[in-house]
Amino acid sequence: MTSKQDLPNAPFDQSEDMSSNPSDSPTLGDVIALRLSRRDLVRGALAAGSVSSAISPMAIAAAPRPVQAQAASPEPSFNFPEVTAGVDEVHHVAAGYDAEVLIRWGDPVLPDSPAFDPTNPSGDAQERQFGYNSDFIGFIPLDDRSTQGLLVVNHEYTNDEIMYPGLQGKNRSERVSGLSEAHVRASMAAHGGSIIEIKRTGGRWTVVGGSRYARRITASTPMEITGPAAGHELLRTNADATGTRVLGMLNNCAGGVTPWGTWLTCEENFNFYFWGKETAKSSPHSEALDRYGILEDYYPWSRYEPRFDMAQEPNECHRFGWVVEIDPLNPTSTPKKRTALGRFKHEGAGNIVNKDGRFVVYQGDDQRFDYVYKFVTEGKVDLGNRAANADLLDAGTLYVARFDADGRGEWMPLVAANPKLSSFKDQGEILIHARLAADALGATKMDRPEDVEANPKTGKVYVMLTNNKERKTTGDNGIDAVNPRPENRFGHIVEITPDNGDHAAAGFTWDILVRCGDPAIAEVGATFNHATSKNGWFGMPDNCAIDADGRLWIATDGNNLKATGRTDGLYAMETGGALRGTSRLFFRCPVGAELCGPCFTPDLETLFVAIQHPGESEDTKAPATYEQPTTRWPDFVDDRPPRPSVVAITRKGGGKIGT
Ligand code: FEO
Ligand code: CA
Ligand code: CA
Repeated sequence: MTSKQDLPNAPFDQSEDMSSNPSDSPTLGDVIALRLSRRDLVRGALAAGSVSSAISPMAIAAAPRPVQAQAASPEPSFNFPEVTAGVDEVHHVAAGYDAEVLIRWGDPVLPDSPAFDPTNPSGDAQERQFGYNSDFIGFIPLDDRSTQGLLVVNHEYTNDEIMYPGLQGKNRSERVSGLSEAHVRASMAAHGGSIIEIKRTGGRWTVVGGSRYARRITASTPMEITGPAAGHELLRTNADATGTRVLGMLNNCAGGVTPWGTWLTCEENFNFYFWGKETAKSSPHSEALDRYGILEDYYPWSRYEPRFDMAQEPNECHRFGWVVEIDPLNPTSTPKKRTALGRFKHEGAGNIVNKDGRFVVYQGDDQRFDYVYKFVTEGKVDLGNRAANADLLDAGTLYVARFDADGRGEWMPLVAANPKLSSFKDQGEILIHARLAADALGATKMDRPEDVEANPKTGKVYVMLTNNKERKTTGDNGIDAVNPRPENRFGHIVEITPDNGDHAAAGFTWDILVRCGDPAIAEVGATFNHATSKNGWFGMPDNCAIDADGRLWIATDGNNLKATGRTDGLYAMETGGALRGTSRLFFRCPVGAELCGPCFTPDLETLFVAIQHPGESEDTKAPATYEQPTTRWPDFVDDRPPRPSVVAITRKGGGKIGT
């Protein structure tokens, strides 16, 4: 999701791009001997062997330390003609590849879907059609050939101001004030997710009409709340005295697919849907509400749906901010909000089966100065018995990360037995207010943790940190070893190596893979490998994927015109050998859009990407309108307005992507 602070005329004071973390957990900003990566020391990029206390943390943070290519003929992991970076109204994919729209907002998902007609907004119609602003994409094969499968797709949020024609006003808030109940019902149905069956014939992917798996999940779909917090008093409402039943999921950003073929979909900026700033201030839970930003008053749903009014349902907001598990193979199954994984602004659910059989889910909490988490199940994955994993995610331990200046780190358990958490009433409250519990443990405040993915080939884990303009040079929100740049505009990527290759271990080492931004501008302090071309660098890493060959791909979310002078795109990133830190541009978006997904089929022959909010304008004086969107898609679609889409990328004539 684009940082709402950068969108026109929105009340952005509680977006994920802002901090809501007032805790005084150590940020090590005043630690003189900032930790240097082992590679920095090996390379001698700074004084070899040790850091003099005469070198200020600022000087270290600002110093550009490009990775040196060390071998004479390093072998790249990727092979494709690099796209030229830039800005225009169309997409660009590497030469030799096709990029075709698979499905767009408003296209049919269910068989009885009416034709797309944004002039006649309707919840009934929209809940049969593909939703808006897709983020996570997962592919669940139905055969062993990667040619037929289910695509599970999140619909994160809506840009109401550009979705519907005829809304009047010079900015978003004025236009949104004119939303009718029909608009709101349509927007609620445009949230959530879609399950579609797709197949590849003659090299082309199409949606299978009438599939028995086809399903829409919306902001109104009945769901179950499970795990340690289920039934907690903080989860009970007038409509649900049990605290176990909830309607819908909100702002589902990234996610994951489990080895047993379920979809993990993650509620991120759920705070935007609840109204009642004044009510929140006088609540007995005002500290927690403030920490979660439940003061937003952004989407005006409470006009027509009282549960989004804090005065009427003060606990409804506690029922969002979870990881939801959905079984796409059972279209009548009830989605389950898994409270054991904690409540925060979940970015994604990158996961891996640990060597002891337990299941580990890595999670970012996407807000400035928030944390990186992992969840380790109590039980083991049973790959031979799908049903045995049905409730695996209801028991286990949630941990939050502390990154130390010496390159070590610790996963700290958020458990009631911890004396530091004695002020929490029970484990349920620890999970519901996981941010507060993590504050109490002194977790490391990060520069907006987005996707976190584990590489099964190497055992290493990659953390996308998108940016943090509020990072200071000193103090509680000051730089530290793992967040080393003040006013971090372009983000960085951290690599975690679990002790002994054990993803359940408490200890780990860490390193910075790359500091992002333009390497040609010394003050930026970017550290891409010198082998990176002027097209290959990027800022604001967000979604990422590790393909079947263990290669890292990174999608950006970057307010791209102002910050980088290039549109968002998908980059192939070397993580090992002499080319480590080298990035190449594979695909780029039209201006105004953000790249999400990405998702590879197991045979690596197809890459699915999602194009979010085409038409969104960064120009607050002249924001996009339905009638005059900033983006046209001449090579995608021949109609207006631009519509968020899922795009299938394949190699002309077949073959693996990027080889
Ligand atoms: Fe929805 Fe953190 O991006
Ligand atoms: Ca994003
Ligand atoms: Ca994201």
